[in-house]
Amino acid sequence: MQHDDQHDPFAAFDAAAGIGTVRDPYATFAKLREQGPFYRGRLEEAFGLPPMPQIMTAKDDRYYVALSYEAVSQVLLDGETFSSAGYGETMGLVMGHSILEMDEPEHHRYRLLIQQAFTLKAMEKWERELVAPIVHRLIDAFAGRGRAELVRELTFPFPIMVIAGMLGLPERDLPEFHRRAVELISIATDIERGFNASVALRDYFAGILAERRADPKDDVISVLAHAELDGQRLTDEEVYAFLRLLLPAGAETTYRSSSNLLFGLLTSPAQLDALRADRSLMRAAIEEGLRWEPPLTGIARTCTRDTVIDGVTVPAGTVVSVCMGAANRDPKRWSDPDRFDIRREGKQHMAFAFGPHTCLGMHLARMETTVALNALLDRLPDLRLDPAAADVHVSGLTFRAPRELPVLFG
Ligand code: HEM
Repeated sequence: MQHDDQHDPFAAFDAAAGIGTVRDPYATFAKLREQGPFYRGRLEEAFGLPPMPQIMTAKDDRYYVALSYEAVSQVLLDGETFSSAGYGETMGLVMGHSILEMDEPEHHRYRLLIQQAFTLKAMEKWERELVAPIVHRLIDAFAGRGRAELVRELTFPFPIMVIAGMLGLPERDLPEFHRRAVELISIATDIERGFNASVALRDYFAGILAERRADPKDDVISVLAHAELDGQRLTDEEVYAFLRLLLPAGAETTYRSSSNLLFGLLTSPAQLDALRADRSLMRAAIEEGLRWEPPLTGIARTCTRDTVIDGVTVPAGTVVSVCMGAANRDPKRWSDPDRFDIRREGKQHMAFAFGPHTCLGMHLARMETTVALNALLDRLPDLRLDPAAADVHVSGLTFRAPRELPVLFG
């Protein structure tokens, strides 16, 4: 795989996602949600930003944004009325025909096939043999230093290392592989680079897939190569599409969600102390981090027939941006929703979506975050935000994360 070294796809992607420009979209989400469960228009308009080309095209130029918890959950539950096929015009151009853009019954069949790579047994093995060693190796590099920048040194690198390990890829290929994954989802800003990344990843995976078809190993590509349902197997193109999706789906989200949770805890030291002392709070802390600052605030669907959702008529052909960020802070569902509070009553949130396309990697993401946080709390006494750091904060409109988390310990 070749690339020019001048371009920084990570910075370009962050800029397109509003990282560094949109600091707090939640006040605007709240204002729009007070006016009704749907905003009629494109979300970017409400923020004074130019239209995002990666959004699907709507018949009659009709765009809605689902904002209330009720509207978001109803749209996501009803995959027949709210189709995912529109991703074929956007992400599908570079990913191939992936699970993301499939509707039923194709989606169900395909999901059953790829789920075979994500069993509980596989998860336990990955935790022991992959995630824990990666996290500890990264922490080893700074544990003796008394200070670290946790995004650059831990949360950014570890999820892609985990995915590369799950796929059985050689470690030396990792930087290139990560770069191509981000270029792939940057088609909105650089379509040519997105296409080049798509072809480069296909060529890269083709050799490995052929090897695994002939000689299976203990990795995800081998499971995908041999998974069977009613005598049918995945084609090579179906496997490539899944692998292309896995990179951004598994790495870009988990790095941001673990950064956001750390940000919540580091800026609420009493809650960090409570978690350090009582690890049974871990699950609740992770869910609250995901509710409070979901790493991905919105996804999209196309309405296939006139329908009424949360009292609003949504006409056929409307492209609906589904704003999980707004749903997760709906005051009808959570009291004082802007507050990060790990002791909240556990309730379903929308960070992993809902319904047929609910995130396939959610158990993996939770396990990775648990391992990383436990390791930090076990190994870095008195972990705290560096008081000298200026204005550490979360930003972004579509994807959200802090740019840095400078910490002191010991
Ligand atoms: C905190 C981390 C994560 C978040 C917040 C997240 C969020 C999401 C969301 C919102 C969707 C729905 C997309 C849509 O329907 O438009 C999704 C789907 C998906 N996610 Fe995740 N994800 C995370 C981690 C992961 C990981 C670690 C993996 C894999 C290793 C993964 C794999 C997938 C796949 C394959 C789908 C497609 C499922 C389908 O269409 O049926 N995700 N994720």
